[in-house]
Amino acid sequence: MSAVTVRVPAKVNLQLAVGPLREDGYHDLVNVFHAVSLFDEVTASEPADGDAGEAPLRVRVEGESAGEVPAGDDNLAVRAARALARWAGRSYRADLLIRKSIPVAGGMAGGSADAAAALVACNELWGLGLPLGDLMEIGADIGSDVPFALLGGTAVGTGRGERLTPLPTSGVFHWVFALAGGGLSTPRVYGECDRLREEAGGPVPLPTASDDLLAALRKGDPHALGRALTNDLQPAALELRPALAATLDAGRAAGALGALVSGSGPTCAFLAESAEHAAALAKWIEVADDCRSAVTASGPVPGASVAG
Ligand code: C5P
Repeated sequence: MSAVTVRVPAKVNLQLAVGPLREDGYHDLVNVFHAVSLFDEVTASEPADGDAGEAPLRVRVEGESAGEVPAGDDNLAVRAARALARWAGRSYRADLLIRKSIPVAGGMAGGSADAAAALVACNELWGLGLPLGDLMEIGADIGSDVPFALLGGTAVGTGRGERLTPLPTSGVFHWVFALAGGGLSTPRVYGECDRLREEAGGPVPLPTASDDLLAALRKGDPHALGRALTNDLQPAALELRPALAATLDAGRAAGALGALVSGSGPTCAFLAESAEHAAALAKWIEVADDCRSAVTASGPVPGASVAG
């Protein structure tokens, strides 16, 4: 095989419960991940023979915000491919092409998605045949959200988010995502969350899963799900990007069943009743708020998979 293309979804967090800061700099989470139909594509191909002297792993990024993605050795897809080659105990070569549609540094795990897609693509290109569980283990060292991008669907993550249990859901949920210009740094948002908590005083409770949220997912009830959406990082994201409050208000005023910042932001997520409702909501939000654009998507969808 000389080229493999993998399609990988973005995620939104339906519940992001953040525990106290751990000694390793991470936080224990209860993180309900939901994969939605906004996709990046990663193609891994064998470098041409004439490129023998070049770096073993090269990356090129295409798409509207391609310029914001590192294109060197610190690119998460390159790091993932390198970790996979190391796991297999051999040196391998690949050219990676990332076609981005997932917002960059947007709180939708786009970088982790590209890492997950690179693992699946290189596993296939190099004929390694590693099972999903091994790819998830390799991915967890690259980023906390990589294992979920491999698994897809809807799942609860504990630990730093990498220990996953798939969740039963019914039906399809319809979403609108308001994309803000300029990303937010995840470590900075977690740091701001710690700072706000310190300022408020009192103990930080251990994170627990919301029974109402799990029941709404099982039943496929968007109204109940809309009421149960929570994100402990939202106050911190709003502190760092106050304009997001107006975006959330615009969606609520336009009739969203639920509105929250996605992960560490700045993308905002709105739950709709149907695909038609989502399309109408997206138009309203674009008009009412000066977000860059509002796009519709649905979930759950499968994790990183070979396309076609
Ligand atoms: O694992 P990943 O590299 O994606 O995490 C990025 C940053 O997000 C970490 O360096 C840390 O600051 C923060 N984080 C955290 N607790 C988690 C996951 C991420 O504090 N459970």
